[in-house]
Amino acid sequence: ARLAVLASGSGSNLQAIRDDLVARGAAASADLALVVSDRRAAGALERARGWTIPAVHLPKDEGATLDRLLREHAITHIALAGYLQLIPPDVVRRFHGRMLNVHPALLPAFGGPGMYGARVHAAVLAAGARVSGPTVHFVSEHYDEGAIVAQWPVPVRSTDTPESLGARVLAAEHKLYPWSIHLLTSGSLTLGPDGRVHGVPDI
Ligand code: GRF
Repeated sequence: ARLAVLASGSGSNLQAIRDDLVARGAAASADLALVVSDRRAAGALERARGWTIPAVHLPKDEGATLDRLLREHAITHIALAGYLQLIPPDVVRRFHGRMLNVHPALLPAFGGPGMYGARVHAAVLAAGARVSGPTVHFVSEHYDEGAIVAQWPVPVRSTDTPESLGARVLAAEHKLYPWSIHLLTSGSLTLGPDGRVHGVPDI
């Protein structure tokens, strides 16, 4: 499989994904073939350049060229990692069942447009939730609404701030996302025609 990672931020999930692929060595079921960001200065692009992996800045109003970019690099799977732009519908359709996203809360709660970054964790704390954690899901036409693949519980502490909770959720993402991506690119994980997810082992 040839994986593209789309990121707008520091790229810590991108780093975790690449570290996982390197650790798997010959047993890896994907090559990291492309990194795309809508932010010229994104840490994700810096990391990719350090690995001599194609790193492309795609300004947010040029989403139309995303499909051409993915074809040029023969991309078969996409992982969104803090990518803040909506994916053009033709790309969502073409990558149905082959594009994942990670959200820093337990969807369907605390999701949807505008719910990203520290404001997610602030909402979790304001709601008095006792558990949060990352959600990995397939990408659909609507923000944060695709079929859920995996989640991991992160207890909320009485002393938590959005930053401290966010840091623990991010650490959980760094384990859950590479694991989920490997399930997908190795062929274990599939999205059925009924919209149900198959092939994820129980934790
Ligand atoms: C993470 O919090 C992730 O849950 C969200 O965007 C952030 C990406 O952070 N989708 P990074 O750029 O991977 O460090």
